[in-house]
Amino acid sequence: MAVLKIARMGHPVLARIADPVADPTAPEIRRLVEDMIETMADAPGIGLAAPQVHVPLRVVVFFVPAGRTAPGDEPGSLPEGVPLTALINPIIQPLSDVMAEDWEGCLSLPGMVGLVPRHTHILYRGMNTRGEAIAVEAQGMHARVVQHECDHLDGLLYPRRMTDLSTFGYKEEMDKGDTPIREFDE
Ligand code: NI
Repeated sequence: MAVLKIARMGHPVLARIADPVADPTAPEIRRLVEDMIETMADAPGIGLAAPQVHVPLRVVVFFVPAGRTAPGDEPGSLPEGVPLTALINPIIQPLSDVMAEDWEGCLSLPGMVGLVPRHTHILYRGMNTRGEAIAVEAQGMHARVVQHECDHLDGLLYPRRMTDLSTFGYKEEMDKGDTPIREFDE
């Protein structure tokens, strides 16, 4: 396993459409997932997409820490969080038109945060490295993380999803304002 270098906004690998994985059970995909998990833990972050480690394939890893919620979550939901998940060739289907804004950060935009609207209720599908189908309904924080990661596979970084760029800036500076900013790095 290895900690990989993370591409920052502006690198062409972050702007392209990533390619589907032909064989999710291939040893090189398992190795990629292991390296992505190690890289995410080292950063640290709660999600990472393969293009962020310079690999233009449709692979993401993520988890939700215990107790972490976002708009769209029922109070006290997911007390144990969401376990570490590797998702290959993911597809997202919104299950409602409801959107909510919350702070996001990204390991490819170190130190920066912004308020990003996301669907609060989705269904995502994909495969794991054992070639098993995954189909999960997700709300709130869980849904947000998955949408953020899957955007990376389509060359989209979170500022492209923002509707009010006045909320985009360096977290360290914005924390000097009246409202503490809570973000997560993906
Ligand atoms: Ni990100």
